[in-house]
Amino acid sequence: MKIAVSGKGGAGKTTISGTLARALARAGHDVTAIDADVNPMLGISLGLGMDGTDRLVGMRQELSEGTSDDAVHEYTIDGLIERFGEDAPDGVRVVVASRVDMPDHGCLCCGVSADRLLREMAGDGRTVLGDLEAGIGVLTRMEPGSLDVVLVVANPTPKSIEVARRAVEAAMAREIKVLVVANRIASEEDLEMIREVLGEQDMAIIPDDPSIARADAEGLAPIDLDDESPGVRAIVEISRRLVALPV
Ligand SMILES: Nc1ncnc2c1ncn2[C@@H]1O[C@H](COP(=O)(O)OP(=O)(O)OP(=O)(O)O)[C@@H](O)[C@H]1O
Ligand SMILES: [Mg+2]
Repeated sequence: MKIAVSGKGGAGKTTISGTLARALARAGHDVTAIDADVNPMLGISLGLGMDGTDRLVGMRQELSEGTSDDAVHEYTIDGLIERFGEDAPDGVRVVVASRVDMPDHGCLCCGVSADRLLREMAGDGRTVLGDLEAGIGVLTRMEPGSLDVVLVVANPTPKSIEVARRAVEAAMAREIKVLVVANRIASEEDLEMIREVLGEQDMAIIPDDPSIARADAEGLAPIDLDDESPGVRAIVEISRRLVALPV
């Protein structure tokens, strides 16, 4: 299954991607997580810590700059994941995507876009989970069939809801299943605000959770700080819903 997490900047994409990847891995799935952010932070939410996440940043640089030695070019997606990936807890493999600006440019080792990773990675037998850049750019470049489901993350603010609405539109135009994730919900009013615009869609709700905020402040994965916190439990529940989807 191939899953992407989309939404406005700061909506909670990385938090949700990292926690979801760990939850799916704990449930026995073979998970490859793709960090498509220019500033890769997925490692933190996955529990790689600062050192492991720094290594990913270094790899992105290596990928973006390419290499002058033909002999070490990497020609396959799986080779790239092997060479430029890191192992996170619970057996999640994480790899950075680059070339955000030039989606289809160059050889694999000199930069590979999230679009291309999602398109070319086999999703049968493993779960591919992409933490997308903010906004709807990658989604508009997706071809039908590249993705099974997109989680569209919306916070209870007008701007976040508007970006989510456009992401839903882009996904539906490409026949990609949508699950709206109402994140940081603290009241019935928060939820109503999102339902007013996105109420027709399947929706999951994640409460505003101080434990998630604390994990962020301490550089820990939310699931490592407290896997019973309300926010983490809501994300584990999303993982169960995803597994049950007919794809
Ligand atoms: N349910 C939640 N409860 C409390 N805090 C949350 C929750 N979800 C996310 N946050 C906090 O919101 C902030 C933004 O989250 P995150 O980095 O996951 O967003 P993002 O969409 O990946 O942002 P960016 O677009 O910058 O990559 C972080 O400080 C995170 O801890
Ligand atoms: Mg992020």
